[in-house]
Amino acid sequence: MTKQRTFLVTGGLGFIGSNFVRYKLKNSNDKIVILDALTYAGNLDNLKEFINDNTVMLPTSQKRLDLIDESVNWREGKIEKSILNKDTRIENLKFKTADYKINTFNTEELNSQIKSLMSDEKLLVVIGSIEDSSVVEQIMSEVDFVVNYAAETHVDRSILNPDAFIKTDIYGTYVLLEALKKSDNVSKFLHISTDEVYGAAPFGVSYKETDTIDPQNPYSASKAGADRMVNAYNNTYQLPVMIARPSNNFGPHQYPEKLIPLMIMKALRDEQLPIYGDGKQIRDWLFVEDTAFAVDKIIEKGTAGEVYNISGRNERENIDIVTMLLDGLNKPSSLIKYIKDRPGHDRRYSINDSKLQELLKDEDTSAHWQPLEELIKITIDWYINNKPWWDKILHSDKEYQDFINKWYNR
Ligand code: TYD
Repeated sequence: MTKQRTFLVTGGLGFIGSNFVRYKLKNSNDKIVILDALTYAGNLDNLKEFINDNTVMLPTSQKRLDLIDESVNWREGKIEKSILNKDTRIENLKFKTADYKINTFNTEELNSQIKSLMSDEKLLVVIGSIEDSSVVEQIMSEVDFVVNYAAETHVDRSILNPDAFIKTDIYGTYVLLEALKKSDNVSKFLHISTDEVYGAAPFGVSYKETDTIDPQNPYSASKAGADRMVNAYNNTYQLPVMIARPSNNFGPHQYPEKLIPLMIMKALRDEQLPIYGDGKQIRDWLFVEDTAFAVDKIIEKGTAGEVYNISGRNERENIDIVTMLLDGLNKPSSLIKYIKDRPGHDRRYSINDSKLQELLKDEDTSAHWQPLEELIKITIDWYINNKPWWDKILHSDKEYQDFINKWYNR
């Protein structure tokens, strides 16, 4: 194994981030510090097997983070301040942290705490936001690499409420870049963008990294803002940053608001499957473990200032995906229900990832980019075998229920 290094993985408790952390902990000697705000999609259960009594840290005195302040107050038995959706958020933090020991301490001591704990632990989880410059700077002073997965990611939520997308995706990335500018020790920073920044691809066209971006919804516009800001920091300040633009991810631990887990969960409960419009929209489906592999290789071999598309090489119409899921679950197609389309719905996404393939040409990729049918089967089996994971979200996560009610009854 190679020399031991430390990675900051922002959003490491989310779906794609936690799969990357698992990949690193299993396949390398590297140490990981996660920074995750534990908003609705972040989940300590995603990395349950790696978390012990020392690993979860909650810095106090984060003035910008009402949510975290509230959680400290809640632990001390004094919930006083009033914030938007306070009750729902406090409820959520309570249920998310109930099974774990959370160590609180002064924000100012974060870097020394990380340094001392890192001599024994391979993983630390800091509950905090990428918008908090003090926390970000202190963690960044202790790491060699940064991968920025932290983001609001759900297009439907961005249509209801773009605010959080602008704050987390754009402002949060800016805070990370500013900290990078001050850091002497970080040698590479990889920003996780998305293929959605290109906007819809006409039939016959697959976008390359050099094509113009043209985002069409509040989510992809926020990601495009962050993506171009990362580029600007390379161009203006010569920072060692790179950008990855993966296509639609799927696989174990995906929060059940996105197409594939939502449909699996609904079908398992014999509920109707809501398909937007005619269901002929096309997405390029990428298995989350292949994203982890590609991201790891981009960090190792990629060149500063460059952008790398990551394609699943699996373009399918939504209706084909849903039919595949129903077949795999042995459920009838009568569960399908066509509903009104998402406003501004991009018809097709498509990217060309020959630049990544060139980067991977000397690597053994035989375990990756398996046929879609097999990867869907792995995913279905994971949701069948991990019912407690999604049952907890379905029944105890108020934010989930709020969103589903608001969106599908609009
Ligand atoms: P989604 O998983 O939300 O990813 P994105 O919008 O970022 O591509 O949706 C994937 C596709 O599935 C998209 O075309 C919208 C469609 N979709 C439905 O038809 N019904 C649903 O309930 C959801 C969540 C998505």
